[in-house]
Amino acid sequence: MSTKILIINYKAYEEAFTKGIDIAKYSGELSKSSGVSIIVSPPFTILKETVKSAKTIAQGVSKLDPGAFTSHVTWFELKQAAVAGTLLNHSENRYSDPKTGELDYSSLKMAVEKCGNSGLETYVCVQNLEEAKEVLKMKPTGIAYEPPELIGGNISVSNSKPEIVKEFCSLVKSNSNSLALIGAGIKGREDAEKSVELGSDGLLVASGIMKSDDFKSVINDLVNGLNK
Ligand code: G3P
Repeated sequence: MSTKILIINYKAYEEAFTKGIDIAKYSGELSKSSGVSIIVSPPFTILKETVKSAKTIAQGVSKLDPGAFTSHVTWFELKQAAVAGTLLNHSENRYSDPKTGELDYSSLKMAVEKCGNSGLETYVCVQNLEEAKEVLKMKPTGIAYEPPELIGGNISVSNSKPEIVKEFCSLVKSNSNSLALIGAGIKGREDAEKSVELGSDGLLVASGIMKSDDFKSVINDLVNGLNK
């Protein structure tokens, strides 16, 4: 059985700063004992803190190389922060063409390649199967299917779209070496078990953990579901 992945996206929630370090410490410990690879994805300003206790990826990266660019976080900066990699193209921050609003595949590809060349892992979010077909050609570490309308809600992608999830996982696995991850509305053990049944290698979770009063028990539930 391959190692399952749980990515915790802290987003820009206030809780990222009030309990993000504790979540990282707990995740680092539980990764060692559970066999599930728990990866935290905090805001840029605390990356250097979370790397001390958990496998950490950034929430995004610029396609640019270091240079005279203001407010761009490059692959070089991520390397200096000693993170393992980055999320890319999350629905809340897509590589969109400013003129058309369409997904800008060539910019995304450039960012994936620059990260890959510098030894950073890349986890690329997609909104549908068409995007997954294009992105798998870029050979990222993982591709995460997240239907935007389910993000932040209480209906999980595994319950709401089992057929698409199944197709997504089989598409990614038969055509690439990338991991097939899913996210949106994932809240507990049942969602995690279902995702594995449908062929997924793991999960991306945000509100279910960040907004919980008991993040430890939610993380435990998810890990147990992934390990079933
Ligand atoms: O990156 C994960 C995220 O978009 C899913 O959010 O709150 O539905 O778990 P949430």
